[in-house]
Amino acid sequence: MPVFDNILQAIGRTPLVRLHKLVGPRDAAVYAKCEFMNPGGAVKDRMALYILDKAEREGRIKPGATIVENTSGNTGMGVALWAAVKGYRCVFTMPDKMSSEKVNALKAFGAEVVVTPTNVAAEDPRSYYETAKRIHRETPGSFMLNQYHNPDNIEAHYRLTGPELEDDLRKAGLTLDAFVAGLGTGGTMSGAGKYLKEKFPQAKNVGADPDGSVYLDYFKTGKLVQPHVSTSRASWRRGGWRARRACSREDRPVRPCTSPSSWPRRWARARPSWSSCPTAARATSPSSIRTSG
Ligand SMILES: Cc1ncc(COP(=O)(O)O)c(C=O)c1O
Repeated sequence: MPVFDNILQAIGRTPLVRLHKLVGPRDAAVYAKCEFMNPGGAVKDRMALYILDKAEREGRIKPGATIVENTSGNTGMGVALWAAVKGYRCVFTMPDKMSSEKVNALKAFGAEVVVTPTNVAAEDPRSYYETAKRIHRETPGSFMLNQYHNPDNIEAHYRLTGPELEDDLRKAGLTLDAFVAGLGTGGTMSGAGKYLKEKFPQAKNVGADPDGSVYLDYFKTGKLVQPHVSTSRASWRRGGWRARRACSREDRPVRPCTSPSSWPRRWARARPSWSSCPTAARATSPSSIRTSG
């Protein structure tokens, strides 16, 4: 193993491991990129490192700055690591559904955590998204990652994750038929997916998103639905439970920021296929987030 000067240098170069138990011997060869082996415990370390390094290099983060982000934990870990190594203050807003372990882990890295109510709409000033924006507005010289709307999120995966995967595959003499990733902000799929598609044109990009995501409805019906945020019994019966169940996962966008007509035409066509839908469009389209990573 290489010797590193600091923990940030240990981000990335995660192992690609063949899965033998989840797939049978006659199935396709399936490999998992072990992103949990990043120092902060998730793929989010890559994006945090890339966005923050770039912003610091370009003078958008200056000495003494505060880093602000709404997070349900994983992004926060990457950001907190970066801030601890580089000597910046960081403040996270987290919904109150998150476990105290997650909050305490972030605090252990020196972060300040502001806990906000979970069951309010994204545009409510009490939501963790709006609270983070307010803290950013009110803190001079602060920098907000804004992972859902920051194109550097996609760029991080286009420049780092995609090439790393290509390198892993080529060194092992493998090719690629399908790249599968959870969608979340769309950063991994849009960035690494775009890169891999360029290098392995025959490969399909497959994004997974939970029941309750607006993208699931869009995929099934070709129509964008309003996010279903409700706690009433009737709406739970009508399907609000789907949204609530999905709330328990990280980084779920719930409302597109622009009208579908302003989205890439290829993507706005009714009933996209998974291979054409999320790539390069996902992370730039949603603006309003109910819960995030
Ligand atoms: C553990 C974990 N892995 C993967 C993802 C997806 O990451 P991204 O949205 O940055 O592509 C998320 C967030 O949604 C996450 O929390």
